[in-house]
Amino acid sequence: MSDTSATQDKSAPAPPSEAEIASLLDSLGVSPDSNLIGVLQDVQDQFGYLPPAALGELSRRTRIPLSRIWGVVSFYAQFYTEPRGRHTIRCCRGTACHVKGAGRVLDAVQRELDIQDGEMTEDLMFQLETVACLGTCFLAPAMMIDNQYFGELTPRRVQSILRSFRAEHA
Ligand code: FES
Repeated sequence: MSDTSATQDKSAPAPPSEAEIASLLDSLGVSPDSNLIGVLQDVQDQFGYLPPAALGELSRRTRIPLSRIWGVVSFYAQFYTEPRGRHTIRCCRGTACHVKGAGRVLDAVQRELDIQDGEMTEDLMFQLETVACLGTCFLAPAMMIDNQYFGELTPRRVQSILRSFRAEHA
């Protein structure tokens, strides 16, 4: 069952305002000398994704053509142009995990965060994905949060991991 601090709504958040974008780019000291990839990472860290308006302003300040910036953004899988959760949970639905209860693990994640596969929590903290195999079948049933593996999961353990993670990253 969800705790009240984790109450979610799946509606997309409002994009950042021009003022918020300008303030962030000011604080990053964006100029024609800036490292584009580094700035894109910083913008995504701040907003959770790369809002189109931020890319436009970035183009203006760096004097890099917007088409080139879009080219870089679409080349790297690490960049997202739609809002998404800051921390990605990957639940394995592969065979080894399936036979050891991956369905119950996924149910527990969905219940705890009140989201479905492919959705993000309203506070943008978590994005949920399912994957065919995490490459750690010996840990079945397994999931990842960002780059961290969690294995031999039970619904109770999932709840505890997610609550601890949320408390640590609040
Ligand atoms: S099947 Fe789940 S980690 Fe391989």
